[in-house]
Amino acid sequence: MNSFQYKNPTKIIFGKDKIATLKTELPADARILMLYGGGSIKKNGIYEQVKSALEGFQVIEFGGIPANPEYDILLEALQIIEKENISFMLAVGGGSVIDGTKFLSAAAYYQGEQPWDMLTSRQPILKGLPFATVLTLPATGSEMNSGTVITREETKEKLAMGGPGLFPVFSILDPQVVISIPERQLVNGITDAFTHVLEQYMTYPAGGILQDRFAESILQTLIEVAPVIIKDPANYEAASNFMWSCTMALNGLIQQGVPGDWTVHAMGHELTALYGIDHARTLAIIAPSHYRYYFDNKKEKLAQYAERVWKITEGTLEEKAQKGIEKTEAFFQGMGIATTLAAYTEEVVGTAQTIAQRFSDRGWKSMGERGALNPEDVEKIVEMSYY
Ligand code: NZQ
Ligand code: ZN
Repeated sequence: MNSFQYKNPTKIIFGKDKIATLKTELPADARILMLYGGGSIKKNGIYEQVKSALEGFQVIEFGGIPANPEYDILLEALQIIEKENISFMLAVGGGSVIDGTKFLSAAAYYQGEQPWDMLTSRQPILKGLPFATVLTLPATGSEMNSGTVITREETKEKLAMGGPGLFPVFSILDPQVVISIPERQLVNGITDAFTHVLEQYMTYPAGGILQDRFAESILQTLIEVAPVIIKDPANYEAASNFMWSCTMALNGLIQQGVPGDWTVHAMGHELTALYGIDHARTLAIIAPSHYRYYFDNKKEKLAQYAERVWKITEGTLEEKAQKGIEKTEAFFQGMGIATTLAAYTEEVVGTAQTIAQRFSDRGWKSMGERGALNPEDVEKIVEMSYY
């Protein structure tokens, strides 16, 4: 096992009707900016719950953060933070609202020329304006990690940043919010969390016996609860397990002491930036081709995954590893998630070259768990994902 340091300071408040605890968790004298998305919280009762818990606090609202949080819109919120002397933020939403809030947390203290430079420089963010979250959509794990992904429509870019300064102070996870989530977003959440685990697991054996079993248990739980919540999002037990699995998939725990990959995400983000495809779906497009392309590098873990998660007992190591890829594809497709780029856009041709060029321009090379992924490989993998 590799050496590691692990610190996750986010307090999790999990359970039925816990949104009301905002009353006691928020700093009493804070000037709070409450941020939310396109309005789903006004239809499902979450807005009322939050507002009633915020009675007596000094609160300003900023709504309209879109899915794939947009830089230009966030800059409007940044002006409010400065003008109104905001001292604490409350994100009420899914990954996009939380990520937008994290960006603002960093931007509030940023001294450089333009906040976008934080995303291109990839320097870790050490200090941010404090914020908390009320999670409305289990998927990204953003409620308990320190990463954020921001979109810039003007240049069709989608870039990530993060650092120890960007953990939420606390996050409220009430699984009852799952009831109102449309099926498209539910299956996105399952697919995203599933792939988060794969990014941290589908590498090579590194002696992380416990980390492997943490990862496999999250995958198994997602597979078990997926059909239940898709059929009945009001099933509280299934919703609870779904929500906690998504958080655990990307709160840093399972990646300690073991290699990680994350290049499926790097390539997937480009597909969202170029074509607006939902984040989770871009992962389902890229992951199978990525595993096929790097089959020799990843076959031991692919076979272990096939055996332990999908109970494949027959065949050679290679045959089991192949089955693991097929099972993953079938899992995504079974939830209605198409796994080829052509299913989402007609502009398939040239995509691989565009993305490879972007990686090359940014100097992104020697990526992945063995430092093996270069722009030329990106081109081949994306091409394999077309049809
Ligand atoms: O905007 P509103 O009206 O709130 O509607 C949202 C949005 O349209 C809706 N929604 C959320 N909660 C709902 C609900 N609708 C009904 N009932 C509810 N309870 O769902 C839609 C999608 O929301 P969004 O926040 O965009 O989804 P998600 O949580 O999947 O977040 C995706 C974003 O997170 C980034 C992605 O790149 C993408 O930008 N990621 C962030 C990560 C992180 N910070 O660690 C890691 C991930 O890999 C990912 O890259
Ligand atoms: Zn993701």
